[in-house]
Amino acid sequence: MSDILGDMRRSHRCSELGAGDIGKEVALMGWVQRRRDHGGVIFIDLRDRQGITQVVFNPEVDLALHEKAHGLRNEYVIGIRGRVDARPDGMVNPNLPTGEIEVMASELRIFNAAETPPFMIEDRIEVSENIRLTHRHIDLRRPSLQRNIITRHRASAVVRNYLNDKGFLDLETPILTRSTPEGARDYLVPSRVNPGQFYALPQSPQIFKQLFMISGFDRYYQIVRCFRDEDLRADRQPEFTQIDMEMSFVGEEDIMAVSEGMIRVLFKEILGMDLETPFPRLTYQEAVSRFGLDKPDIRFGLELTDISDIVADAGFKVFSSVVKSGGVVKAINVKGGVDFTRKELDDLTDFVAVYRAKGMAWIKVKEDGWQSPIAKFFTDAEKEAMTERLGMAPGDLILFGADDARIVNDSLGNLRNHLGRKLGLIDDDTFAFTWVTDFPMLEYDETEKRYQALHHPFTAPFEDDYDKLESDPTAVRSRAYDLVLNGFEIGGGSIRVHQVDLQRRIFKALGMAPAEYEEKFGFLLSALESGAPPHGGIAFGLDRILSMLCGTESIRDVIAFPKTQRAGCLLTNAPAEAAPAQLDELHLRIRKVE
Ligand code: AMO
Ligand code: AMP
Repeated sequence: MSDILGDMRRSHRCSELGAGDIGKEVALMGWVQRRRDHGGVIFIDLRDRQGITQVVFNPEVDLALHEKAHGLRNEYVIGIRGRVDARPDGMVNPNLPTGEIEVMASELRIFNAAETPPFMIEDRIEVSENIRLTHRHIDLRRPSLQRNIITRHRASAVVRNYLNDKGFLDLETPILTRSTPEGARDYLVPSRVNPGQFYALPQSPQIFKQLFMISGFDRYYQIVRCFRDEDLRADRQPEFTQIDMEMSFVGEEDIMAVSEGMIRVLFKEILGMDLETPFPRLTYQEAVSRFGLDKPDIRFGLELTDISDIVADAGFKVFSSVVKSGGVVKAINVKGGVDFTRKELDDLTDFVAVYRAKGMAWIKVKEDGWQSPIAKFFTDAEKEAMTERLGMAPGDLILFGADDARIVNDSLGNLRNHLGRKLGLIDDDTFAFTWVTDFPMLEYDETEKRYQALHHPFTAPFEDDYDKLESDPTAVRSRAYDLVLNGFEIGGGSIRVHQVDLQRRIFKALGMAPAEYEEKFGFLLSALESGAPPHGGIAFGLDRILSMLCGTESIRDVIAFPKTQRAGCLLTNAPAEAAPAQLDELHLRIRKVE
């Protein structure tokens, strides 16, 4: 029996050898990063996941071996044996951990040849992401992706150790299940043995982790895949990973403390950074009023200021009529923005239009007064009040939004982030965490004409607000909290409803008839009747946290095999059509899409 490895086994990894190993006989295995022929001598940069070692083939030492090495090409997979030598003077590479040594080869085994790769195995390459994703197994050889994927492993290990030490149990939950509502569409899986019936892939383990609490498991966690069929962006994937946890007999403070501890060790272990805890907190109201968004980036100013009361009777009808019809007028003072060009202002107006803003009035504060198409509409008293409220001084640019509160906050909040980046106000090296608390329980969905849960329907309302569930649903605050980092929501959770009557009232407030909620969630209601402890929890987006830790622009760069914006896998070409026989077996017929 012949075995290509023979008796060769590697003695070291390609990052390990140094001056202390000079004289040792070693065996290394890996990929040819580069072959250089220098005046007869051949140098091979041999690469494995840990690093690179220079291997030398000298024709004066072994002519046949040198000849064999001549045939090596990039990405060939080889094993070598040889002796560790000091590099000659002047050849030492201080940028390489193994830069003081080289290995003088005495044996070479070529385990496999390789086609010329579609792009270089190095970080600074100019290749479209689609080509990288099509050849992801090769892309994953590049140092930055190797680092990100290994960091992912380390981060999971840190999280597991931390939670294990705190008495959490790592418990699994089903993947083939019923719909678990988190506000996205479900991925459905047809059942062969139950014609016409479907499983849903879990949007989160939410209901199962609550059932674990009801079963007495007390502290649960899972690093778990979740599935959501939603519109994809840089920070969203159709399947993504949560660090999911749940605890019994706790309140908000307990869950936040465990979470802060976990984030602290993560940043300490991965980045060597000491985060200050507790993290600051903002109520939803405060976040939206000051920053326009419920996931504020608090690394810079440019806060929103409400001036509705000042302009309620202004001659500028756009403002006064908005206030009269219950809307708001808010402004951002862009300090030093007076030199924005007409073109820049038009671009900003286009920017806010995406968020349904109907315009973006502006004022430039010059030494000799206001320059603005709307300046003439304000009385001296109104001007004075605005100057004071907004801290206006020469050199400033004031930008306005007037509309219903939702549009103003959304457009100015996003404009604020845009300006923060454009004006270089954001320090990319800081990590600014904030909790956002006291979310509204429900919001009214105009298209569906019904109330929807802002978090999910199992979130407990504030006790003081129970009586508004029927009379004034949107005024009900919930015991939900999100953890926001640099403007991204990295985690969210809540204290849950553990009383069956309250859970029924919430289902009703969401517009569900008893028959509907009994059919969908009867098992949960009966579980709540079986002795349910007070409980709560949180889930973190592992991909988003890693993207922050690794400094990547997209979560795709911290996921080994991510999907595209169209939810496809370019490597395997999933999704794909199914064979007619398979469809028959599943009792499915495909209607041709027009
Ligand atoms: P939520 O829906 O807020 O809560 O999800 C928790 C966290 O998961 C991350 N996340 C995503 N990451 C990548 N791609 C996606 N498509 C995606 N969707 C969500 C976010 C988010 O903060 N069951 C509740 C948690 C609980 O109440 O305990 C839940 O799933 O970082
Ligand atoms: P108009 O009266 O439509 O010519 O608008 C005068 C200025 O007000 C322009 O700069 C518009 O961009 C701005 N504007 C119009 N509607 C709004 C609005 N809803 N919010 C803020 N600015 C607006």
